[in-house]
Amino acid sequence: MKPKKAETFRSWEIAFPNDANPLGTLFGGRLMAIMDKMAAIAATRYAEKPTVTASTEAMDFKVPVRVGDRIQTFARVVWVGHTSMVVKVDVYAERPYHFQRFHCTTAYFNFVAVDREGRPSPVPPLLIETPEEEREFRIAEIVKKKALERKKKIEETR
Ligand SMILES: CC(C)(COP(=O)(O)OP(=O)(O)OC[C@H]1O[C@@H](n2cnc3c(N)ncnc32)[C@H](O)[C@@H]1OP(=O)(O)O)[C@@H](O)C(=O)NCCC(=O)NCCS
Repeated sequence: MKPKKAETFRSWEIAFPNDANPLGTLFGGRLMAIMDKMAAIAATRYAEKPTVTASTEAMDFKVPVRVGDRIQTFARVVWVGHTSMVVKVDVYAERPYHFQRFHCTTAYFNFVAVDREGRPSPVPPLLIETPEEEREFRIAEIVKKKALERKKKIEETR
């Protein structure tokens, strides 16, 4: 397969009251769903075939999204193996009455491309062209390695 460049996918959402916890900030699970959806779009468009979420890295929420905020999400494939991909997702919140942007969280999602039977299926190698892409690739490689180590340890302990 020919190496391929990854695209950045972005989305806007609004934090509505029905997505909030009793403190008036966005429920973490709602934000995780938005991030997983965007990661799925980035992975599936990259692979040009269906993909599934295999695992996620730990997620640290630095700044809360408040009701009324605009939520901007960026998703991009930053690492590719044989059938798997690591997608980096960045989330920013913009307050309703001004355009100041806050970085809420960044997380990495592990996706696997699958065939019609749900079996892992190959994806094109990732084309790396800039030092920033190289840096992102190396970070994601650590994420991927950690995910597999964790999975192996849990399976061995069971
Ligand atoms: C993800 C899934 C396809 C992996 O299938 P598998 O047969 O266990 O996979 P294999 O061990 O053959 O590995 C295939 C690839 O997946 C990767 N992979 C498997 N489990 C992984 C995990 N937990 N985290 C990261 N990568 C993982 C492997 O590293 C391998 O990548 P590579 O081909 O780039 O080297 C399978 O476990 C599955 O379908 N899980 C459910 C996914 C799902 O439904 N998600 C939504 C939840 S509702």
